[in-house]
Amino acid sequence: MGERLDKLLADTGRWSRRESKELIRQGRVTANGQRCKGPEEKYERECLDLRVDGAPVFAEKYTYLMLHKPGGLLSATQDRNQRTVLDLLPAELRRRELFPVGRLDKDTEGLLLLTNHGELAHQLLSPKWHVDKVYLAQVAGQLNQADVEAFEGGMTLGDGLVCLPAGLEPLADPSWGRVTLREGKFHQIKRMLAARGKPVVYLKRLSMGPLELDPELKPGEFRPLTEAEKGALLGCGGGQIPPLK
Ligand code: URA
Repeated sequence: MGERLDKLLADTGRWSRRESKELIRQGRVTANGQRCKGPEEKYERECLDLRVDGAPVFAEKYTYLMLHKPGGLLSATQDRNQRTVLDLLPAELRRRELFPVGRLDKDTEGLLLLTNHGELAHQLLSPKWHVDKVYLAQVAGQLNQADVEAFEGGMTLGDGLVCLPAGLEPLADPSWGRVTLREGKFHQIKRMLAARGKPVVYLKRLSMGPLELDPELKPGEFRPLTEAEKGALLGCGGGQIPPLK
């Protein structure tokens, strides 16, 4: 539905409704790069790049999007030959220089945070802060107690990869399990489970620190983080990382 343009401007407290109308009439207001024509135009507040004389109206410095990554796309900002998760965003969001926080394999689905907040990304990914990432995995075979203990003990793989202790919880159907990692090495879950003789056939990320994949988001859909989600990530990282400025 959206809100009227003059209301959006007036809600910032910087201009009255009458002054807002005047700014629009003078052609000084743009929305997502297009000059606005009248105060009655309606826009969604979230993800709106609204400017007066070229200066952003909303104070937010950074953008944070939760994406339900579908299979088949690269977790990268650009690629010569293949589609990336950034291709799912409209042009006005692509202009914000967003990048995915951490990589999911091309065939992995689920939670991906897109932001242009470099310091947050650095903290969430730093091994120093051990932010838990939880995945749903399906394997060819059945997960058992020996697999759980191997994960808990910290595996060293045949290819030399040394893994921190990780969580594995087989589900009611033991070809499915919930895996919790505190690091994110290349193809880590696939390599750990392959080393147990149980190759992964499906993988989906459910959460990262305090951020959980919104069950309402279908693969390929995204939405801005709520204030509560932003607060959890920025304020304390679920108690795991120190507050950011
Ligand atoms: N582990 C994997 O093997 N792949 C992913 O995409 C994420 C974790």
